[in-house]
Amino acid sequence: MKEFYICDCARFENQVVTTSFLVVSKQAKPKKSGELYLALTLADRSGHLDAKMWDNVADHINSFEQDDFVKVRGLLNKFNGRFQLTVHKVRSMEESEVDFADYLPRTTKDIGELWQTVRDFVDGFQDQHLQALVRAFMADPEIEHAYKNAPAAKTLHHAFIGGLLDHVVSLFKLCDLACRNYPETINRDLLLTGAFLHDIGKIHELTFARSFTYTTRGQLLGHMIIELEMLQQKIAQVPGFPSEYKTLIEHLIISHHGKYEFGSPKMPMFPEALMLHYLDDLDSKMESMRAHFQREPGAEWTTYNASLARPLLNSKNFLEKIQAENGRAPAVQPDAVQADAVEPEAVQPEAVRSDNVLESSKAAAAKEK
Ligand SMILES: [Fe+2]
Ligand SMILES: [Fe+2]
Repeated sequence: MKEFYICDCARFENQVVTTSFLVVSKQAKPKKSGELYLALTLADRSGHLDAKMWDNVADHINSFEQDDFVKVRGLLNKFNGRFQLTVHKVRSMEESEVDFADYLPRTTKDIGELWQTVRDFVDGFQDQHLQALVRAFMADPEIEHAYKNAPAAKTLHHAFIGGLLDHVVSLFKLCDLACRNYPETINRDLLLTGAFLHDIGKIHELTFARSFTYTTRGQLLGHMIIELEMLQQKIAQVPGFPSEYKTLIEHLIISHHGKYEFGSPKMPMFPEALMLHYLDDLDSKMESMRAHFQREPGAEWTTYNASLARPLLNSKNFLEKIQAENGRAPAVQPDAVQADAVEPEAVQPEAVRSDNVLESSKAAAAKEK
């Protein structure tokens, strides 16, 4: 176990800490004097922390690289309202010193139970072909292991170990609810098959052993293309699988991002494909909001959310404040409530986006859906 996690920063402000991190990024930059300093992003399972090394850089610069685990000693303080570590000493750690679970965020849910939930849904399929297909994927030990561990995205949503499975179980539940509202239009088994397969290519698109990053294959092809190949291979193991079904599933896969600019070469063209796209989008955005509120628990307005390209109002915190104020002053007039509402200007300056940030977050969102 690590001695200190990034989520504990507030308790250690202005103290010297000695602890270990994963190096997410490492850049050598020149000071005004021309000497180099190191700008680092360090991580553990609870978050990311900016760090700077100003002195003795020459002694340390080649002693570790990005993606290494490092032991660090430094002073923790706040700079521009954010915690930052001024590093005094750093050394690379051997893998034998490292418990990987300390460094990668993980779903708080029980992965075995999530997998069982998927299995229960699939056991309820009416369609034998679709059931056999999904079971063929689930019975593959390599796929099972990767599906249980992969994140659903690099940063934007469900970016934690077990995130893909967590996302798909949530999506299954949404599909289950939504398709009951359109019983004559939606084939539930087809929709759930699409939900199970729509992001399965992430197991090859991303690496998740040390940090979350794209594989070369993932960078060059993206998860949808990888999924078509995986589908082809598995269908070959399911005798008598109808070719028309294959075409429908291929369309579910390639259209699930819903827009050309998000990487889908076709718009959703049948009801299950349309529903999968919207529910997938809904689940990823709701999780992005939940995670952001968790990172900034006391905030009424959050900082800028890159996935949604806007700062967020924590409506729960906001309503609790209003209700507490109303409780103190029972005869509040509607106008008075309105006067308390937060103006857009009240957002923290760093939360306000620039157009550049918006553009880059659009590009990231296109990749990560
Ligand atoms: Fe998804
Ligand atoms: Fe996707």
